[in-house]
Amino acid sequence: MTEIAIIGAQWGDEGKGKIVDWTSKKQGMKYVVRFNGGNNAGHTVWVGNDEYKFHLLPSGILHPEIVNIIGNGVVIDPSVLVGELDSIESRGHKVNLRISESANLIMPYHRVLDGIEGGKIGTTRRGIGPCYEDKVARRGITVHDLMNDGVFREKLLKNMEMKNQILTKIYDQKPLSTDEIFDSYSALSERFRQYVCDVSLILYEAVCKDENILFEGAQGNMLDVDHGTRPYITSSNTTIGGIFTGTGIRPNLDTVLGVMKAYTTRVGEGPFPTELNDETGKKIQEIGKEVGTTTGRNRRCGWLDTVIGRYASRINGFDELAITKLDVLGFLPVIKVCTAYNYNNKEIKEISSGINLEECQPIYEEWPGWREDISNIRNYRDLPENTKRYLSRIEELTETPVSIISVGPEREQTILK
Ligand code: GDP
Ligand code: IMO
Ligand code: MG
Repeated sequence: MTEIAIIGAQWGDEGKGKIVDWTSKKQGMKYVVRFNGGNNAGHTVWVGNDEYKFHLLPSGILHPEIVNIIGNGVVIDPSVLVGELDSIESRGHKVNLRISESANLIMPYHRVLDGIEGGKIGTTRRGIGPCYEDKVARRGITVHDLMNDGVFREKLLKNMEMKNQILTKIYDQKPLSTDEIFDSYSALSERFRQYVCDVSLILYEAVCKDENILFEGAQGNMLDVDHGTRPYITSSNTTIGGIFTGTGIRPNLDTVLGVMKAYTTRVGEGPFPTELNDETGKKIQEIGKEVGTTTGRNRRCGWLDTVIGRYASRINGFDELAITKLDVLGFLPVIKVCTAYNYNNKEIKEISSGINLEECQPIYEEWPGWREDISNIRNYRDLPENTKRYLSRIEELTETPVSIISVGPEREQTILK
């Protein structure tokens, strides 16, 4: 039996979707499990010339033999879920899915509130934060509630009383109609009722039967609600701990695989010490096609930051790293790597909660680039020497071995080291 966790090591969009799709097949997974976040996530998988963007569906969904699970830690927007189901089925794929009955639902008022309140953070405006707020405040509506008309109506009425007060009295918005929400959510629920179950129990039985499980993280270490760059974070535990609470089993992980882009990107507001506001940053953005999968915003780009990488390795206990988008750096004569920060005239190498990343200036090392197209290379030994040196330095600085190298978006553009 093998249990693997795949976790973003930076600010999300590291290429987790590609690595999950590839690893789940390669390692013979029986289950792929999402445990956090919602449709703020956008996980891309390329199969030949076909592009798939998954927001709620786990990235193992293209393998019909794999049971794909949406755990209780995920927040579900039923309209997005149904849209994704329709889309994947219309493209000829069979859906092998289970959905936790304990997952909380994103409601229309969550989306409206996020649209009003999320601007400062630059959220995806998908209602993620307000939904998790209600979950923690013990008034959230779950998938289980939705499955029973009477319970759903009662909980919805209670929530709407409060939300319409907030919308009309505080934010000067129009009230929302309880009946309309009830009717649309009830109709949507019929589309996925067949998949709803007790996920914790299914996974417990899988463990008893020694079956292989892969846990697919959404977002990344620096967006974690506890360990990220507050307040510019998302509202769930994107780090390893999210697996415990977001699935209802005690994971027994053989490998924690951190996914790290060969440079750094960030969408939305918040500190980013190695950000490049120059031509090089623009070129990385263009060549790397760094546009948000969910919101279509241009991603901010910068050099690789191994202070953040080492921090992510410490928080999550990475056993290995997958380095993605290495091909994108092929145009650079010189590549910089951030090895430490200058913070109040002191050199620091560790992030701790007292440190404001806004006030950290990166300290760089410079490495010669390889200046060639590596996207067709399939063996580690065939990589240019300068590429291998860059990878070795990442291993040293993050204190984590590299096991997977991605040189393009497609499945076969992957090198096992
Ligand atoms: P995720 O949120 O971590 O799953 O990442 P996204 O899918 O949001 O963003 C990663 C983007 O990079 C997607 O468009 C992928 O198709 C693409 N991608 C993944 N790996 C590679 C790679 O090694 N090279 C290149 N050029 N693109 C990649
Ligand atoms: P994947 O899984 C990159 C960012 C948003 C914003 C902040 C809070 O594709 O890596 P939220 O809507 O979650 O309240 O927004 O978090 N963010 C992401 N950035 N990749 C993601 O997911 C993200 N999910 C949220 O841009 O800055
Ligand atoms: Mg993404």
